[in-house]
Amino acid sequence: MSVLSGKRILLIVGGGIAAYKCLDLIRRLREQGAAVTPVMTGAAAEFVTPLSVGALAASRVYSDLFDREDEQDVGHIRLAREHDLVLLAPATADRMARVANGLAEDLAGAILLATRAPVLMAPAMNPAMWDHPATRRNHRRLLDDGIGFVGPGSGEMAEKGEAGTGRMAEPLEIVAAAEALLAPRKRPLTGLSAIVTSGPTHEPIDPVRYIANRSSGRQGHAIAEALRDAGARVTLVSGPVTLADPRDVAVRHVETAAEMLIAVEAALPADIAVFVAAVADWRVAAESSRKIKKTGDGPPALALAENPDILSTIGHHDRRPGLVIGFAAETDDLLANARGKLARKGADAILANDVSPGAGAGGGVMGGTENTIRLVTAEGVEEWPTLAKEAAATRLAEWIAARLGRTETA
Ligand code: C5P
Repeated sequence: MSVLSGKRILLIVGGGIAAYKCLDLIRRLREQGAAVTPVMTGAAAEFVTPLSVGALAASRVYSDLFDREDEQDVGHIRLAREHDLVLLAPATADRMARVANGLAEDLAGAILLATRAPVLMAPAMNPAMWDHPATRRNHRRLLDDGIGFVGPGSGEMAEKGEAGTGRMAEPLEIVAAAEALLAPRKRPLTGLSAIVTSGPTHEPIDPVRYIANRSSGRQGHAIAEALRDAGARVTLVSGPVTLADPRDVAVRHVETAAEMLIAVEAALPADIAVFVAAVADWRVAAESSRKIKKTGDGPPALALAENPDILSTIGHHDRRPGLVIGFAAETDDLLANARGKLARKGADAILANDVSPGAGAGGGVMGGTENTIRLVTAEGVEEWPTLAKEAAATRLAEWIAARLGRTETA
């Protein structure tokens, strides 16, 4: 049975040519057992008639904020509150801009501002409008405000000869997105705290040069997000990456291994620590305060010094988190090396991945999007299939919950 069964959905039909798809959308939502209350913006009625919308929804259609009868009868606040989901389709560039700025000058605007229900938008507009910096900014803002999006897709537009991103998602995609948004969340790590390290470190040579590695931070950031989604309070200690800070995660930005260790220790105590960062093993022993010049006497000799091993330090710490997990990116003797690290570094589990060039698409080639992981513990080895880094992160969060004996909590 669909999670939409018995749910009350307030569908705001926006004023765009894609409004015609709302007729099918209403039918699809009702097929899943949802009750649909339609609200039409002024412009929507130019594209699709209230009569057909109301007939398909088997509901009265609301349209004007200042309709005295509607206000006395239901009221926009009640409309906003009485629903499990507010769905805006099509979300025009104009409507996105208004909502991003909290404007509420019509019924749709008032509902979108007053509702406490999740909001899902299905944008549809000309590709040039979707690409415009103002729409990009409004989209980001709406995402930050917690609004869900489905689409837009790419392809032919209603305007002849126009193609690009801006097509409204198909009704079935919108139904699937609504289901995903309303699906009960599993949050088994609620009440626990976690530290995750991610990305490379940069070890300065002089003011303009540094030693770095190919880590993108994708896997570490995905793990921070998966632990957050599982309910944990997460501190992400990140080396220099080009990724955006994950939402609802405390992010500490560092450059060097030494700074990373300080930030990790400052985040203790914690229940869980996952060390994903590709920390440089060595730093330049004496960083030059001036740019090193070519002298004509050949290249300078760089003396290196050992960096602290953060995983090992925390694995043997007097405030050691209850569960300590490390990674092992290896090109040779994957399992033997991972087992060695497990013992040496005081970890409960090591996620071993093969980064040898021959490991293929599934190999955890640094900077790639997929990972083939073998999870090594004192008890044995679990082989995971090749997974997108996000999926590997979700699987790790589930493994952590099981290991900690956490039954799902709402
Ligand atoms: O010894 P190796 O670098 O292969 O170990 C990898 C694991 O140890 C990873 O979990 C990595 O985040 C962690 N590590 C660390 N500090 C270092 C080196 C590695 O935390 N200086």
